[in-house]
Amino acid sequence: MQGKQLAGEKAVEYIQNGMVVGLGTGSTVNVVLNELAKKVQEGLNIKGVATSKFTEERANERKIPLVDVAEIESIDLMIDGADEVSEQFDLIKGAKGALLREKMIATSSKRFIVVINENKCVKKLGAFPLPVEIVPYAWKVTVNQLEQLECHPSIRMSESDIPYLTDNGNYIVDCHFDTIIEPSVLATRINMIPGVVENGLFTNLVDTVIIGKEKGEVQVNQK
Ligand code: 5RP
Repeated sequence: MQGKQLAGEKAVEYIQNGMVVGLGTGSTVNVVLNELAKKVQEGLNIKGVATSKFTEERANERKIPLVDVAEIESIDLMIDGADEVSEQFDLIKGAKGALLREKMIATSSKRFIVVINENKCVKKLGAFPLPVEIVPYAWKVTVNQLEQLECHPSIRMSESDIPYLTDNGNYIVDCHFDTIIEPSVLATRINMIPGVVENGLFTNLVDTVIIGKEKGEVQVNQK
């Protein structure tokens, strides 16, 4: 946890007065929310954009002001965690199922900072199963089409043994690729399947990766 804590604390230094800030989802973003709440209490004036109901609840509990998402036109800075980060600054995201909203906000943000611990750094993406959000309608058809990409897709299940539902009312399929050689080519192929809503590959989006290390250092990599 130390790594996530350090990365989250560092990321908050990039938030400036007046900014509209995209708030990702997950345990590292929780650290960001805790630190941001302190700054808001001290008088920092920002507006947050929550990328999940989970983050929305936590931001509300911490009295971080949020914008009505229907009103957003542009975002100054997005801060989010990741499941894998490659040397090329490409990401796999979606272990918490929020990839669609996260990608929507990340792609419309002027700057995207990723906060991770050192275990998330990889040479090539793919060891972590790639989450793909799909519509529930005829979902087995979509899973069969994903299977043709040779990724052993499995539908994500909830604790009550029914398919896990995203905040958008969709399903998640976890795809096992092992190594992803060309993430942007794969992302395009996956999104061409009609039942696919979005995939968890984030390519050419990240400006800064903040890596918190268990021994107490923080490394900031800029693209
Ligand atoms: C949510 C995500 C998360 O950012 C990712 O799973 C990392 O989470 P954590 O910070 O808890 O390790 O992609 O959809």
